[in-house]
Amino acid sequence: MLQTSLKHPTSEKIKTPIMQIYNLSKTFDGFTVLENVSTEIRASEVTCILGPSGAGKSTFLRCLNHLEPIDSGKILYLGNNTQDKNYNVCTLRTEVGMVSQQFNLFPFKTVLHNVMLAPVVVKHMSKNEAKEIAMKELEKLGLADKANLLPSTLSGGQQQRVAIARSLAMKPKLMLFDEPTSALDPELVRDVVDIIHALKKSGMTMVVVTHEMGFALEVADRILFMADGHILEDASPEKFFNNPDDERARAFVAKMF
Ligand SMILES: Nc1ncnc2c1ncn2[C@@H]1O[C@H](COP(=O)(O)OP(=O)(O)OP(=O)(O)O)[C@@H](O)[C@H]1O
Ligand SMILES: [Mg+2]
Repeated sequence: MLQTSLKHPTSEKIKTPIMQIYNLSKTFDGFTVLENVSTEIRASEVTCILGPSGAGKSTFLRCLNHLEPIDSGKILYLGNNTQDKNYNVCTLRTEVGMVSQQFNLFPFKTVLHNVMLAPVVVKHMSKNEAKEIAMKELEKLGLADKANLLPSTLSGGQQQRVAIARSLAMKPKLMLFDEPTSALDPELVRDVVDIIHALKKSGMTMVVVTHEMGFALEVADRILFMADGHILEDASPEKFFNNPDDERARAFVAKMF
C-alpha cells in the first residue's frame, strides 16, 4: 500500500524561487530548440509543462540539471549561478532529482542496490546508512517486499516507483519528472499519480512534463505551455484550461478536450 503522507525536508517552505532561468537558449546542430526562455521555479509548487511534441520540454528539463549544456543564458539554483565556472555542479545534481519515462534502472543490481547507489557513490554515505534510507523510501512507495529482486522482475509501474524511490533517497529539494506515466499501462498510471500527489502534500517542489491533461489539471499549481522552444503561456490551471491568452495554447487546449 502507498502511504499518503511522505515527509520530506522541503516541507518547510522556502520563500525564494528554487530556480531562476534567464534567456536560456539551446541549439542542436544549429537547430534552435530553446530560445531565450526565462522563468522561475517556485518552492513547494507543482509546475506542469505542457506542449506539443518537439516543443523542447524534455530538453528544457535536462538543461535545468545540467544533463544538457546550454548555449547561452543563466540558470540560478537557490540564488547561485550554475553557469559560473566556480559553481559545483554536483550540488545541483545531488539536490535536483530527475525521473523520466525510461526508468534507467541498473538491470543487474537489485531494487535495493539501485536505490542505495547514489547516496553511497555521490553522497559518500556508508552502506548501512544508505540501506536504511533506501529501505525507508521503498517502504513509503509500497516496494519493501521487492527490495531483493532484480528490476526486470517488476511491472512497469513498480519499476517507475523504484526510479522515484531512487531519486527520493537523495533527499532532493526539487524533482523533475519527464512524462513519468507515459510508458505505463493505464491501470498503473494511478500509482505514480498518487505518489506525485503525496509528494505535493509533503511540500516537494516539482516540475512535471506531461501529456495527461487530467493529471495536470489535478496536480498543477501552475502551467507552463511550451511550443517551438518558447514558453507561450504561464498560467494557473484554471486560467490555462478555460481561457488561455495565447492563441496556440487555446488551440492546444481545444484539441485536448
Ligand atoms: N540530443 C539531441 N540531438 C539533436 N536534436 C535533439 C536532441 N534532443 C532533442 N532534439 C530535438 O530538439 C527538439 C525538442 O526535443 P524535446 O525532446 O525537447 O521535445 P519534447 O517537447 O520533449 O517532445 P515530446 O513531447 O515528443 O517528448 C526536437 O526537434 C528534437 O528532435
Ligand atoms: Mg519529451
